[in-house]
Amino acid sequence: MNRMVVSVGLGARTYDVIIGPGLVNSAGALVAPMLKAQRVAVVTDSNVGEYHAERLAWALEKAGIAVNTIVVPAGEATKSWDGLSGLSARLLALKLDRGDLIIAFGGGVVGDLAGFAAAIYKRGIGFIQIPTSLLAQVDSSVGGKTAIDTPQGKNLIGAFHQPRLVLADLDVLATLPDREMACGYAEVIKYGLLGDAEFFGWLEANGHAVLARNNAALAHAVGRSVQMKAQIVAEDEHETGRRALLNLGHTFGHALEAETGFGDELKHGEAVAAGCVLAFAFSAQLGLCAQEDASRAAAVFKAARLPTTLADLPRQNLNADALIDHMAQDKKAAGGKLIFILARCIGEAFVARDVDTAKLRQFLIAQGASS
Ligand code: GLY
Repeated sequence: MNRMVVSVGLGARTYDVIIGPGLVNSAGALVAPMLKAQRVAVVTDSNVGEYHAERLAWALEKAGIAVNTIVVPAGEATKSWDGLSGLSARLLALKLDRGDLIIAFGGGVVGDLAGFAAAIYKRGIGFIQIPTSLLAQVDSSVGGKTAIDTPQGKNLIGAFHQPRLVLADLDVLATLPDREMACGYAEVIKYGLLGDAEFFGWLEANGHAVLARNNAALAHAVGRSVQMKAQIVAEDEHETGRRALLNLGHTFGHALEAETGFGDELKHGEAVAAGCVLAFAFSAQLGLCAQEDASRAAAVFKAARLPTTLADLPRQNLNADALIDHMAQDKKAAGGKLIFILARCIGEAFVARDVDTAKLRQFLIAQGASS
């Protein structure tokens, strides 16, 4: 199968996202031209390491690149001050200099942590993303958002630091658990909903093939998602405008995650699924979009067995005011105002800065939240 190359156009910092099978095995030839000294630090986690890290090291070494692999514990807890300090100490011990590169080889946690370490190590060192989850391939590895979590909230400390290259190897998704696959697929659906009705229609017809990891379907789903993300990031790298559309479903989703404790009970992609459905239902209730579009949005997530209503969530009786409080604390809120991504129809989302809290409260209660 052919490779697809999507360029993220950011002037002198423009980089390619390469999508296709076999990219880990070809990593040496793809990475070597980007190195000054033939040396990299690969940051991976204990899950990915078990399946793929040796293969990546072998692929790089056979191209003459010296590899130091740093394995961090799998799980969100690693994306913390402690995790950052531990990783930075290990990078310093390797005496990497600015001409060397870090490779983030893992899902969103590894990409965000290693990317942030790269942003601040000796005031900035280059890095490459080799994302191993569908969610990281279609979202977090592209666009340069890096961060850690703190006790005050998720992703509150971080930096924009663009990678030099992203390799989205579709083969690594073969070992991804089905639940993780569905979580990444929620972000794929998000792209159709926010900006491409035709792609959404394609997902309605072909979603089952994407989830079954049919090669051609997967390549189209990842490729189209990355194209859309690349275009939005190139237009608005620092999220002063259009990039906010990528947060469709995230204001509701973040509140649901906060109320369920940001753990395995409700994963980020699952919260985004329920969040997108709520954003469309709220848009329909406000008379902004047709109920039929809200129903179509819900049906695609439901077909992937993702949660679409408050009743589907692992915790019941979520309180409307507690949810609204979380939304107000979200870093996307500005000047005390709630910012939502709402929709005019499938394929057309927009940023709403004047959402009426009383109407939101009413809506949440009608959806089953307690008053
Ligand atoms: N994940 C949303 C963004 O990269 O802007």
